[in-house]
Amino acid sequence: MEVKKANVEQLVGALKLGSSVARLAAQQELLTRPAASVAPASWTLVTDAAQPLHSRVAALFTYAQSAGSQGIGNLVKLTEDATLREFALKALADRKAWAQQAPLEPFLKALNDPSARVQTAAIIGLGRLGKPEAATALLQVKVPASFVAPAGNTEGPHATPNSAIVPAHLAARALVSLNAVDACVKALGTGQSTLALWALRSMHDPKAVDGIIAAYGKTNDAALKKQMLVTLARLYQKEADYDGSWWWSTRPDTHGPYYKAIAWESSPKVKDFLMKQWQQSGDKAFYADLNSRLRMNIAEWGGQETTVAKEEVKVDLEKIKNKKGQVGESSIEDVMLALEKLKGNATLGKTLFTQQGCIACHSLSRNEPMKGPFMGQIGSIMSRDQIAESILKPNASISQGFATVMITAKGKKSYMGFVTEESASRVVLRDIAGQVYTIKASDIISRKEMENSMMPAGLANALSYEEFASLVTFLSEQKK
Ligand code: HEC
Repeated sequence: MEVKKANVEQLVGALKLGSSVARLAAQQELLTRPAASVAPASWTLVTDAAQPLHSRVAALFTYAQSAGSQGIGNLVKLTEDATLREFALKALADRKAWAQQAPLEPFLKALNDPSARVQTAAIIGLGRLGKPEAATALLQVKVPASFVAPAGNTEGPHATPNSAIVPAHLAARALVSLNAVDACVKALGTGQSTLALWALRSMHDPKAVDGIIAAYGKTNDAALKKQMLVTLARLYQKEADYDGSWWWSTRPDTHGPYYKAIAWESSPKVKDFLMKQWQQSGDKAFYADLNSRLRMNIAEWGGQETTVAKEEVKVDLEKIKNKKGQVGESSIEDVMLALEKLKGNATLGKTLFTQQGCIACHSLSRNEPMKGPFMGQIGSIMSRDQIAESILKPNASISQGFATVMITAKGKKSYMGFVTEESASRVVLRDIAGQVYTIKASDIISRKEMENSMMPAGLANALSYEEFASLVTFLSEQKK
């Protein structure tokens, strides 16, 4: 049977369909056909103002890919049309192979467009066209006041939408893609210093370090000087190339800026300079904060985070386990049946959480140090039954990332526990008694995952049904 293929005209007609899946299929088919017929046919649809926007945009990207560098002139013309401007700019910068041939002007003009979508398309495009002359214009992008580093040991506001920061963020990334070191250094001390430093902190180039140090000596603006010190501190080390010998665990390491920091060409110069400033400074806490925040490992500055919590509670888990009450004397099935009927009292449950030693390994708030699985939102993850079962039969299912590991280390040492913190340089373990051990990654000889849980069974043995129900109810109410 002969299958009739749709012709170019019919396929371009399909770009008018309401279904985006159909439009995509038509585009893909069109791009396999000769550009000589596809380009003019799709261009006719692009310029047909009577058609809906989605059809014109589908035709625009089909045209851009089909025509290649031949289409640049027409796409530039489209940037004069406010309806299609955003898309024409995206199409012009889409393929790096010919983006270099696109002119800068439409992008520079679009930086001041009333539409934020057009502005961002222009900023991203300028980073992709590869023309260093664009740097001066990019540096004009305003940085909003919300550009502040989060307090030490807290996570940034990643989950809070902040559209105002987007253009500046994109401009900093574009400057980095253009490797605009010279333009950024030149901007230091001007109104564009903040954006320039934002971009410079990702440029591990001796010219960046020298430029910041020189500019530091030329300004009396205390706030700017501080920003420069922070930027130099970030440039002190760089990320190691990934060589396959280490990997991130399921327990995220929230410290930055590098996962595995190594020294580079300008590290000694940065350290030398920062040490001098530190010696003269009356604000040693500022340097201690940088040291722990950025894990710079400069011993003299102090402030390196300590893993062992300040008010670590001492709990005798053995003693708790050995007391026998109603729960310990009943079968798990009976406890589960009783739990169905008892509502429990969450306030009592909270007390029991401390009293039965749970706090040795679990935290209830993000402000406490990370231990075992976080209980602050366990009620959103587990049902009452599942919580009860986890307490009565810890080995039944082991939560992801908290398996027991057995580590042997140099000096014939061995450790068994669950990982509470892990970076390229060290592993922090907590054992079955809630004790904390920090092991240097370079000392680790072997590491094995075990099948048993590090959570001791029997911690609820001494409780009555009513008390056990209270503990479970308290946890099931921990929701986000
Ligand atoms: C010695 C440390 C330790 C103590 C003490 C401890 N736990 Fe755990 N707990 C763990 C570890 C490790 C896990 C993860 C491994 C697993 O799932 O068994 C865990 C898992 C859990 C889970 C399941 C969480 C999940 O995400 O799967 C619950 C619920 C829980 N514990 C509650 C408690 C309660 C309630 C107490 C006090 C009666 C307690 N734990 C005491 C170490 C401990």
